[in-house]
Amino acid sequence: MSESCHRICPLQELAANSVRKFEVDGKAVAIYHIDGVVYATDDTCTHGLSSLSKGELDGDVIECSLHFGAFHVPTGKPVGAPCSIALQTYRTEVREGVVHLYRPE
Ligand code: FES
Repeated sequence: MSESCHRICPLQELAANSVRKFEVDGKAVAIYHIDGVVYATDDTCTHGLSSLSKGELDGDVIECSLHFGAFHVPTGKPVGAPCSIALQTYRTEVREGVVHLYRPE
C-alpha cells in the first residue's frame, strides 16, 4: 500500500505529553507527543463528533471530553466506555527535527 507523506510541524512546537489538532488534506488529526514519541490518530472520537485534542491525555490514554470514553493512543484501541470502535492511527516519523505523518492512499 502506498502512503502520502505530510509535514506537520517542528517537533519543538509540540509540548511534552500533550495533544494538538492539525489538518491533513482537510481531515482533522490529533498529534500526540508522549514520553518523547510522536503518535497520530484521527481527531474525531469514534463515539460522537467530539474533538479528542480537547480531551485529557493521561499517559498514553486520551479521554474524550464529551462522554469520557477513552482510547489507547499508540494502538487506537478503545479502553473506556462508551467508546467501542477503534480510532484510525497513522505512522509518524521525525526527520531532521520535523514531524511527518503518513496516510494510506
Ligand atoms: S463523543 Fe467521545 S465519548 Fe462520546
